[in-house]
Amino acid sequence: MNTTALVVAIDGPSGSGKSSVSREAARRLNAAYLDTGAMYRAVTLSCLNRGVDLEDKEAIAAAVAAAEITISTDPNEPQTVTADGEDVTQRIREPFVSERVSAVSTTAAARENLVARQRGIIAEHVRIVAEGRDITTVVAPDADARILLTASEEARLRRRGLQLGESQTAEQLAAQVVVRDAKDSALVNFTTAADGVITLDSSDLDFEQTVQALLTLVEQAQASRTR
Ligand code: DC
Repeated sequence: MNTTALVVAIDGPSGSGKSSVSREAARRLNAAYLDTGAMYRAVTLSCLNRGVDLEDKEAIAAAVAAAEITISTDPNEPQTVTADGEDVTQRIREPFVSERVSAVSTTAAARENLVARQRGIIAEHVRIVAEGRDITTVVAPDADARILLTASEEARLRRRGLQLGESQTAEQLAAQVVVRDAKDSALVNFTTAADGVITLDSSDLDFEQTVQALLTLVEQAQASRTR
């Protein structure tokens, strides 16, 4: 069993397959898995439960600082997320939360708070794959491997549509993928790779091919680090 220290940082837009690919890569790497988007969703729910006005950045920052959240990191177990003592694993995936999470992710002080928590979780694990929008650039710029997982807009819309059981109209899908990415990129850039970050375009790859390509990039990054 591989026990060498390893941090893999993965960023990408919605519908790029980041979460499922990162989770599977973590399994195969014998590493923990951190879904930072779930943390943004959990604190958003905490803000809503506290009746915070999502136009008020100061109130958001204060509520995020006070929010008690937990997130599981075992890629072999179903994810569990709690906010202020309540199991919110299912609720954080509801459109109600998806539509409001950008209010939190575009609040600089809220991001600082979550970045600190994410660094803490990463430091607790010897081997971990962390994914989000600013992991390669802000949360873990010193990661052993830094990868931007992208896909064409067409591929991303198609995948999100399948994920949601084709229950959405084209407009609803576009709102969830394209419009949200535009809002989310106000404070972080996850559409072009920063220096030292390798782009993996999955538009023409299936799930297994994407996982394999990612594992190859991780191996190459590790080899170049030990050289
Ligand atoms: O990956 P996701 O859709 O679950 O992310 C939820 C939201 O959180 C999304 O609007 C982008 C934001 N986010 C972020 O700003 N930074 C991260 N590291 C992860 C997610």
